[in-house]
Amino acid sequence: MLKNKELEEILEKIDLNEAPPAEEPMRQYYFMKKAQMLVKQKSEELGRPLTYHVTTFGCQMNARDSEKLVGILDEVGYTEVEDENADFVIYNTCTVRENANQRVYGRLGYLHSIKKKKPHMMIALCGCMMQEAQVVEKLKKSYSFVNLIFGTHNIYKFSELIVTALESDRMVIDIWKDTDKIVEDLPSERKYAFKSGVNIMFGCNNFCSYCIVPYVRGRERSRNLKDIVREIEKLVEDGVKEVMLLGQNVNSYGKNLEEPVTFAQLLKEIEKIEGLERIRFMTSHPKDLSDELIEVMKDSKKICRHLHLPLQSGSSRILKIMNRHYDKERYLTLVKKIKTAMPDISLTTDIIVGFPGETEEDFLETMDVVKKVRFDSAFTFLYSKRTGTPAAVMENQISEDVMKDRFDRLLEEVQTIGREMSSRDTGSVQEVLVEEVNEHDPSLVTGRMSNNLLVHFPGDASLIGNIVSVHLDECRGFYYMGTKVG
Ligand code: SAH
Ligand code: SF4
Ligand code: F3S
Repeated sequence: MLKNKELEEILEKIDLNEAPPAEEPMRQYYFMKKAQMLVKQKSEELGRPLTYHVTTFGCQMNARDSEKLVGILDEVGYTEVEDENADFVIYNTCTVRENANQRVYGRLGYLHSIKKKKPHMMIALCGCMMQEAQVVEKLKKSYSFVNLIFGTHNIYKFSELIVTALESDRMVIDIWKDTDKIVEDLPSERKYAFKSGVNIMFGCNNFCSYCIVPYVRGRERSRNLKDIVREIEKLVEDGVKEVMLLGQNVNSYGKNLEEPVTFAQLLKEIEKIEGLERIRFMTSHPKDLSDELIEVMKDSKKICRHLHLPLQSGSSRILKIMNRHYDKERYLTLVKKIKTAMPDISLTTDIIVGFPGETEEDFLETMDVVKKVRFDSAFTFLYSKRTGTPAAVMENQISEDVMKDRFDRLLEEVQTIGREMSSRDTGSVQEVLVEEVNEHDPSLVTGRMSNNLLVHFPGDASLIGNIVSVHLDECRGFYYMGTKVG
């Protein structure tokens, strides 16, 4: 990560009369400067600044990618606006379930109506959905008003793509199948001053049979430990107190590096960074969660007391067909180990209902695990058929009625347990990182506890970004009302 001043100095020295450099990130700095020039020209023509709006669908990886897009847009001279009536609109898409896709198509119709009144408007689509060939075909055919389409592997090229799109009157498409490249030192703009996501790895090698992510995010690549530590040190200098380490399966971090390191070793290095107060990570695959990691978490002062441990199904038979590499017993044993080491830990999970061939018996196994583990909360999903995955062509796809019925029963159970679990800290005093002034009641602020739950309490904007002690007065479902102490 570069500081803005360092970047300004680099950009100043670039001569646009020369050919663009071949090596990265210098090539992107060149196009950043060129885009600055084009945006300036256009805004002088219009007599006002050019505006942008980025909409992000999907997971934290996408959210982090969007921060990189925003970092570049700011640098190039666009100004952010709240709504989609902007000069440049970018959708960073998700395709993990079909409904994520449908939302994008729906919104595009609306964008088209804006663009008809504003012909110079640029529309860009990027992210996971763009990695699917049939999506790009459909866009080419029926959504020809889109200016720029790129994928997940070449997002670092955004400056270059902006220049190409600004200079072209046709749809620009740049999609890579996969990459082994990680480009460091590009700008990014954080949503919050005091916390930040940090990619530690990209892609996924697990090929769970229902999941499209390995196809759209490519093979697993870990960043070098030193690059990660350096990025976090700079973030801390810049006021960040909490980092969220991001990867589809953080527990397999570092396995393929030239000098292999474990995720637990990475955490130990990050713990040493002075001024950093909290460490979170996402997502942990149960199959790779090591004893070493449990030890490091237990002894850590900074790693938060929260573990998101996707279960997907409680049936060993289904887990096998899902290609998850653990069974019901192993999951339960793992949870026991974690809870013994850290009794105050908050456990959350993801569960899919209606995977092909799931019987009532299989479903009851899932309910059984839910009752035994007692998750603090669970994201529950209806199975969604993803083209190209092994599960999509399996026989015995489950009917919608059956799926929906199981989904409702599961949701009821996880919510009842979640409410009970969430309230267990009532009356105690917890450390809270204050995130924002409460949206509904400006006399309150909202902060996050180590276990990831939110608490609202009287306070003002001056507390934002600070860690304060709060007495938990009352639990209201999945959040607390509290009072600041000391
Ligand atoms: N890498 C993470 C999950 C990323 S996707 C992990 O392995 O835990 C987030 C969640 O979406 C998954 O945990 C799964 O529960 C859900 N999901 C993925 N593919 C799905 C599909 N085809 N249908 C329904 N839910 C799905
Ligand atoms: Fe998908 Fe499985 Fe990879 Fe998670 S681990 S992203 S569920 S393939
Ligand atoms: Fe969606 Fe891509 Fe994340 S498919 S869940 S945005 S990795």
